[in-house]
Amino acid sequence: MAQRKIVVLGTGGTLAGTSATPGDNVGYTAAQVGIADLLARIPTLNGVPIESEQVAQVDSKDMTFAIWRDLAARCAHWLAQDDVAGIVITHGTDTIEETAFFLQEVLAPRKPVAMTCAMRPSTAISPDGPQNIVDAVTVASDQGAQGVTVVCAGVVHDARAIAKVHNYRIDPFSSGDAGPVGYVEDGKLRIVREWPSGGGMKVPQQWPRVEIVFSYAGATGDTVKSLVAQGVRGIVIAATGNGSVHHELMPALLDAQARGVRVMRATRTAEGGIIPKPSDQLPHTNLPPVKARIRLMLELA
Ligand code: SIN
Repeated sequence: MAQRKIVVLGTGGTLAGTSATPGDNVGYTAAQVGIADLLARIPTLNGVPIESEQVAQVDSKDMTFAIWRDLAARCAHWLAQDDVAGIVITHGTDTIEETAFFLQEVLAPRKPVAMTCAMRPSTAISPDGPQNIVDAVTVASDQGAQGVTVVCAGVVHDARAIAKVHNYRIDPFSSGDAGPVGYVEDGKLRIVREWPSGGGMKVPQQWPRVEIVFSYAGATGDTVKSLVAQGVRGIVIAATGNGSVHHELMPALLDAQARGVRVMRATRTAEGGIIPKPSDQLPHTNLPPVKARIRLMLELA
């Protein structure tokens, strides 16, 4: 049987960015170079047959529900083809954890969907994008791989565990307590825990409005009251520590819940979750706030 191909879907990001000055790793414009052009610059893709498609061309801070829908549809299309071993998606680092989580939740793919990115633009003296793409192709072509992962700086992260924890270094992600799924070392995959699994929710036709509200020193219920008046369907509270909420904010949240708004606590701490206790007045999740918001939108839809 002929070797199965990898489909690379481009969505932009720093990986596709350019700056006027080659050494400038900050003052660049993201999402300028097309995916076919980026792939053509890489001397080797391990001899794997590649097909590419430009699904979007954005700085990922500007990610939209429409792009998410297109991306999920293109992934579903390609994953259903027998001659496709897996998918690579290029994406900006800023919201890659959200898109990865969304895709795992809706696709629950049995084949690998390896997302990748870069912290330096394509015009950098030493861009990190090309190696990251090669590593993502290694993951996407692995026979045993499955689910949505993010491959960056030789580390393979699970879509549910990954979070961007640094603004500049070329290894900006952490998988927190869960740890990475594995590593790509000189073209070889070393797996240290199970691949992502689960999901299978529907891609919404209409996205219910769900907002994130932080609990912090001096918090009040005003933002929550305003959101309820605007018809918000869900509120994720980025709660302090083990899920605690400022006493000035709590009554507005309880009132919102009583009016039918789904209210969910998620801890704003970078690691760990929420350990429930009998006196809790609001439900909680162990997802971080941005991912709790996506889960709530999918549930409400
Ligand atoms: C983006 O997220 O699109 C820009 C920043 C990056 O890719 O690192």
